[in-house]
Amino acid sequence: MQDIVNEIAEQMALITDKGKVATYIPQLARVDPEQFAITVALPTGEIYSAGCSQTLFSIQSISKVFTLTLALGKLGEAVWDRVGREPSGDPFNSIVQLEHENGRPRNPFINAGAIAIADAIMQGHKPKETLAEIMQFVRSLADDDSISIDNKVAQSEIATGDRNTSLAFFMASFGHFENPVNEVLGTYFHHCSIAMNTHQLAKAGRFLANNGINPDTHYAVVSSKRAKRINALMLMCGHYDGSGEFAYRVGLPGKSGVGGGILAVAPGKASIAVWSPGLDLIGNSKLGTQALELFTSKTGWSVFGV
Ligand code: DON
Repeated sequence: MQDIVNEIAEQMALITDKGKVATYIPQLARVDPEQFAITVALPTGEIYSAGCSQTLFSIQSISKVFTLTLALGKLGEAVWDRVGREPSGDPFNSIVQLEHENGRPRNPFINAGAIAIADAIMQGHKPKETLAEIMQFVRSLADDDSISIDNKVAQSEIATGDRNTSLAFFMASFGHFENPVNEVLGTYFHHCSIAMNTHQLAKAGRFLANNGINPDTHYAVVSSKRAKRINALMLMCGHYDGSGEFAYRVGLPGKSGVGGGILAVAPGKASIAVWSPGLDLIGNSKLGTQALELFTSKTGWSVFGV
């Protein structure tokens, strides 16, 4: 496995068109697009990395996997009263379906859906308390208490968050929100601004590759049935209107973030985190996707076969 990740990193270094970093969040535009990292974490505890796997990046929408998991723990099936579980076929920040579908977002991974999930997990608590709970969860999954929120990124998102603010108030107009809209947005912007490296992120994803069990503690984070369902949502919706293409090329459940990270899950085999800040036209990591495509070709670990 170490040879495989080394080869992937070498291949990625040869690619000259590394995509374009996101600019709509000014703080993300400052990141050097030349960087690449990959970490593969096995349920047995072995970890294999290549590239800058200790460099922190903004996990952005990958955080939506963790907030969905928390929401399912708190609300159970009632989560699906708030969001659907169908791919949207639209960009991550789209508003068009919300009016036709009475303010219920298509899935928990588009921005509108993740904002609704943030409202669902707050349950009357303040953003600080909710964020403390989210951080405690992510730190325990990764077994790393150093993980924290990059406040500069959060402030940068707040300053340029007109679209998300619109989505949130539009949903609230259907009477679906239980908490003050600005507090829900504050929670959402901050959880998107969690900074992690691929080593930490791959560790945090292991429960999804291990039937819901945290391999460090042997306790169930979620039931095996729930892990299976979260993986299904990642496969169908994790890359927005690029989810079909990602399934076609990589063939694994995966969740991307506009910071250039992707968390992918090979059920029963590994949790894989990749990072390269340059994005494709849809907003998913260009090299990250290519690296994962190479990874499933080399390992034969696509869920669709070798
Ligand atoms: O709300 C936003 O636009 C960002 N915090 C997250 C978007 C994102 O990561 C899209 N993923 N590729």
